[in-house]
Formats: sequence, C-alpha cells, structure tokens
Amino acid sequence: MSKSGALDLATGLGGKIKKQEVQSAVQQYEKYHVCFGGDEETRKANYADMVNKYYDLATSFYEYGWGESFHFAHRWKGESLRESIKRHEHYLALQLGLKAGMKVLDVGCGIGGPLREIARFSSTSITGLNNNEYQISRGTELNHSLGLSDSCNFVKADFMKMPFADNNYDAIYAIEATCHAPDAVACYKEIYRVLKPGQCFAAYEWCMTDNFDPNNQIHQRIKAEIELGNGLPDIRSTTQCLEALKLAGFEVLSEKDLAADSPVTWYLPLDTSQFSLTSFRLTPIGRFITRTMVKALEFVHLAPAGSERVSSFLEKAAEGLVEGGRMEIFTPMYFFLAQKPVSDS
Ligand SMILES: C[S@@+](CC[C@H](N)C(=O)[O-])C[C@H]1O[C@@H](n2cnc3c(N)ncnc32)[C@H](O)[C@@H]1O
Repeated sequence: MSKSGALDLATGLGGKIKKQEVQSAVQQYEKYHVCFGGDEETRKANYADMVNKYYDLATSFYEYGWGESFHFAHRWKGESLRESIKRHEHYLALQLGLKAGMKVLDVGCGIGGPLREIARFSSTSITGLNNNEYQISRGTELNHSLGLSDSCNFVKADFMKMPFADNNYDAIYAIEATCHAPDAVACYKEIYRVLKPGQCFAAYEWCMTDNFDPNNQIHQRIKAEIELGNGLPDIRSTTQCLEALKLAGFEVLSEKDLAADSPVTWYLPLDTSQFSLTSFRLTPIGRFITRTMVKALEFVHLAPAGSERVSSFLEKAAEGLVEGGRMEIFTPMYFFLAQKPVSDS
C-alpha cells in the first residue's frame, strides 16, 4: 500500500533512525556539506553514512511528493509527470533489450518503483540493490502488496562492493543512483564484474554539463546546493562519467543528455513559477502546506524534532535543481548504454 498521506510522511520521517536521534542526524548530515563548512574529501570517506542518513531523512518526503519512483524524466508535451516517469523507465528497458527470462539488476533501487514497473513491462526478474534498510523495508511491503514478490526482490548492500558472483547478470541498470558513488571508476568496475560478458549496462547519471564553469561562484553555489539537498559527495561532469566507463572496461554504445531535447523541462514540477493540479504537492502552495504541516506535526510530536530542517534542505535542493536546470549546467538524465566486451582482454 502506498504511504503518501500526511501522517505517513510524519511517521516515516527519519526512516530507521530512532525518533529521538533524528535532530542530531540532521545536524551531522548537514555538516558534511559545503554550505555548512563540510568538504568533498570527508563526504567521500564517509559516503555510506552520509547517503544512508540522507535517505533515512528524505524518503518519506520523496514518497509523499513524488511517488514510488525517485527520479526525473524526459517529458513530451501533453504527458503527465507520472506518465513521463514510467516512459523514462520503459526507455531503459528497451535500450537494454530486456526479455522474459533475463536476470536483471537495478543498482541503487530506492523503494523499487522503477524495478516493479520494468519487471511488469519486460516480464523479467529484477533484483534491487540498495544500501538503505528503510527503503528496502518499504520496497518489500510494496512488492508484497502488489503481488510482485516472485519477480522482484531486494538485496541490502553497498554498490561499491556487491555480494554477487562474477558474470552473474544479463542486464544491469542504474537510475539516478551511481551519482552517490565516491569513485565512479570503482563503482562501474563493480558493475562490470557482475555483468555477463557481451551484456549491457544502462544508466541515467546526475552530471554537471559542459556549461558548468568551476571558476564561476554562482555555478559552484548551485552545485553545492544540489549536493546538500541530495546526499551527493561530488557531482561529476558528463565527460568524467564517460571516461570512468571506459576505464572500467566498458565499450560505450551510445550516450546522450536526454535533458537537451526534452520538450517539457525535467525541472518543471519543482519550478515555483508553475502551477499543476496533478503535481499539486510540488507547487508553491503545495510546498507551503507541506512545510506548515511538518512544522505543526513536529510541534505536537507526531513528527520527530528536526523534521522541519529536513523539509528546509529539500527546499534548497529544489531551488538548486531548478537553477541548475535553467542555466543548463546540470542534468539528471545523462543517459548511456555500455557493453561488457565478450572477451575480457
Ligand atoms: C535518487 S535514489 C534513486 C532510486 C531509484 N533508482 C529510483 O529511481 O526510484 C538513489 C538510490 O541509490 C541508493 N544508493 C546510494 N548509494 C548507494 C550505495 N553505496 N549502495 C547501494 N545503494 C546506494 C540510495 O539508497 C537510493 O535508493
């Protein structure tokens, strides 16, 4: 059953963190980031702690405001946000040529929205790999309630050291997840290792585009806001991702920033100058209501202390994402399809 009501938001907030420890977890999380005096090195060295804290704190907000799939999407005019999200998932399945009987891995699977959709769309069995216990417990409940426990399952592990044998999967994908890796080459090498020779890995990566200027203070501020609001150690450029894939041993079959030709901008749902009834919770009024409600629930102790601060760094993230999208210095949909060569030479 979907948990997208106000009370679900309040009770889920903090994930597996004890309710009385949420406030200090928020402080510790914030301190990792530039906006609060943190640095990239510390974020990378402590990536598992930082990312897990982030998803414990943010998951119920994601579910409340966005749904079961935690990603953006290429969008056609006339398409609703939900429709575009599903189509974005189907696109990956088509690019990977998924067929019944294939054994598929979803790297960094969230609560499993994409893997349930892709498993139904392609008649495949999909394992979701995720390091966040709270998300796995939500995903398992949803698999069960939707009757998908046979085709969809989860494994709790770090994608930097996967508990799988070499040459194990027929296809692997990652949706807006490997951006959390402290080292892209090491992460892609792990994916390469567990993929069968001749098979493909496809992903949507969060990247800074070629328009990003590291010497521009505004660009740097936006990048830091996106990192803070999304639990990221450092956002890589599209070129760095491409290089990392090749260094890991992959042959890149195609790559493209899908944001560049999306008729409806991916950040539209977060853009406060827009209004939408179907994505009401993301509009300025919807966000004001959420903020006020979280404050009230925290006041009456239905939501843990620190909840309002989570809502506030997620607001910052939304502002950074919209600015980064408008200036075309950032994309959440750098797509690539990469193949593991048949012979490992
Ligand atoms: C933005 S969410 C995307 C989730 C999912 N792909 C979706 O689109 O709904 C990123 C996901 O990556 C997972 N993740 C981040 N770092 C990870 C790591 N080191 N190992 C495994 N999963 C990780 C997070 O727990 C989260 O589920």
